[in-house]
Amino acid sequence: MTDYQTIIDTIGAQCRQSKDRGKVANYIPELAKVSDSKFGIHLVDSNKNNYYTGHSDEAFSIQSISKVLSLALAFTLVDNAILNRVDVEPSGDPFNHLSLLEFENGIPRNPLINAGAIVVADILVTELQDPKRDFLQFVRDLTNDQTIDFDKKVARSEKKTGFKNYAAANLLKSYGNLKNDVETVLDFYFHQCSIAMDCAQLTKAFFIFMNRGVCQRNKTYLTLGQVKRINAIMLTCGFYDEAGEFAFEVGLPGKSGVGGGIVALLPGKYCVAVWSPGLNAKGNSKLGMEALEKLTTESHQSIF
Ligand code: DON
Repeated sequence: MTDYQTIIDTIGAQCRQSKDRGKVANYIPELAKVSDSKFGIHLVDSNKNNYYTGHSDEAFSIQSISKVLSLALAFTLVDNAILNRVDVEPSGDPFNHLSLLEFENGIPRNPLINAGAIVVADILVTELQDPKRDFLQFVRDLTNDQTIDFDKKVARSEKKTGFKNYAAANLLKSYGNLKNDVETVLDFYFHQCSIAMDCAQLTKAFFIFMNRGVCQRNKTYLTLGQVKRINAIMLTCGFYDEAGEFAFEVGLPGKSGVGGGIVALLPGKYCVAVWSPGLNAKGNSKLGMEALEKLTTESHQSIF
């Protein structure tokens, strides 16, 4: 049996000593307040054994990691109808780029870049009775933790500086690919991104993608087809213009956020979350990526 705890302890010790920790995101001012010395890992295996180290139980802003959860909820509500409005191809562009959106007539390349996630947010705003409340409840139920909440300061902070997301939403609207008004959809989007969770909670939420759609409490949320599709989208699009590098170095489907979190999973085996707020030039957690490369290399386990 793989000794995950020893592997994680070793990775934690190495990463904590690292001098080059990347740069904490500052385009959302509230995120810039987080110390780059934070580092945590939590891994849960398919038998629900937990292994962890460092600041794994300290909540942080999940940001774009939320895009996988909103996509999953949208799949449960409208299934493949999502694909009429969003494509599933890697963009090869940074998460907030707009040029392809105009070039491709308002159909975002995939649901994990900002424009695609804003279309998914629009679907949820249409389909849910009380969108923010119902999305938060979905995350709380997946995790079996009713304490998870929005960080309203972070949501407000992003709203003040979210000019590119306003541009994306307006562009989508001009192409007829946003049904609700820009303000309502972005209010939902900024809140979904602001959710604060720790590494342990993230592995609980992402357990369904590792475990054929079934959560830790044995409730089925997604069909096998939906799980296959969401994991494929994570593998090919989860790290924007660094998706190739992540597949090459780590070899797992996963998703990053500018709060410095990364969640990744090996289907049928384990789900792992890492948090280190310093980002690399592509906006992904620098030590988070390095830690996951070490994990798959040391454990000799990846999807390949
Ligand atoms: O829309 C934004 O810019 C942020 N709320 C989320 C960006 C993000 O996390 C990109 N991930 N690496």
